Amino acid sequence: MIDQIKKVGVLTSGGDAPGMNAAIRAVVRCCAYHNIECVGIYRGYEGLIDGDFIPLGARSVKNMINRGGTFLKSARSKEFKTKEGRAKAYKNLKKAGVDSMIVIGGDGTFRGALEFGKEYQFPIVGIPGTIDNDINGTDYTIGYDTALNTVIEAIDKIRDTAHSHNRLFLVEVMGRDAGDIALSAGVGAGAEAILIPEQNIGREHLMESLRRSKQSGKSSSIIVVSEGDQIGKNIFNVAKYIENNLKGYEVRVTVLGHIQRGGSPSGRDRILASRLGVNAVDALLRGEKNVMVGQKLNKVVTVPFSESIKGENEIDMELIRIAKITSI
Ligand code: F6P
Repeated sequence: MIDQIKKVGVLTSGGDAPGMNAAIRAVVRCCAYHNIECVGIYRGYEGLIDGDFIPLGARSVKNMINRGGTFLKSARSKEFKTKEGRAKAYKNLKKAGVDSMIVIGGDGTFRGALEFGKEYQFPIVGIPGTIDNDINGTDYTIGYDTALNTVIEAIDKIRDTAHSHNRLFLVEVMGRDAGDIALSAGVGAGAEAILIPEQNIGREHLMESLRRSKQSGKSSSIIVVSEGDQIGKNIFNVAKYIENNLKGYEVRVTVLGHIQRGGSPSGRDRILASRLGVNAVDALLRGEKNVMVGQKLNKVVTVPFSESIKGENEIDMELIRIAKITSI
């Protein structure tokens, strides 16, 4: 255990995700366990630039494990992308005596942390928190499991009305660059087709498969569309196109939107958050910096920020195969 770490700052940044509170709680309690001070930073990097800090002790995070959102609040900071913004942030950390940080968020949060950590030689450890599940180096991000369950529950309800009216529903889910929610929810809710940004199947291919299913006796259908997919970007136009070119179906569109980001975290997300929160503090105490803690094959791992934010989102090809077979 290195003794340079005496006061840890913790923040949540980017889109909020269910389980962020559970992660903050684990960080705070692990600091208390090791007799290290912990400071909450409000509104992500915005609060860092404004010096909006609050001391956090073990009891400050009571009744927090089950709460959705993030009590520290979150933001997508434009100012932190500038040198001047980061300089203000560093000044505030120095003034408050904060010597290390744990940042909970996604890709944008880690990019900011990497830049800042290198610029000021400041120890930072990241925790992946985003419903999108689009961070490399971890099998799951905090919030993904809850969001997936929310989407599946919603689609189950849509299925009831789709079946009653012989309708085709296009259901748009979140994920501007990543199709994980769409793919898993599509398989879990029994969708007819799943459209994701990583694999553009094209409108005509979709029409062909819808015609085939109609001929095979399907009377209603659900298509899950990721907002980042080409078709997702024009979902209402595509709905019209399908209605005009496929006889016998009325088409409706449901955009699930921010309902996917709210709600009490699932058991899996609470456990993942607790595990990664404790391990983030452990990593700082081991002297690690510029890394994210994640979970791979049920083991906690540390991955350099540069790896976690690298390249394109990897999609589960096996799940695509399962979707194709089970939707026949
Ligand atoms: O990054 C999480 C996410 O929910 C994406 O799936 C979505 O595209 C985006 O955030 C929406 O962001 P905002 O809440 O800022 O509109």
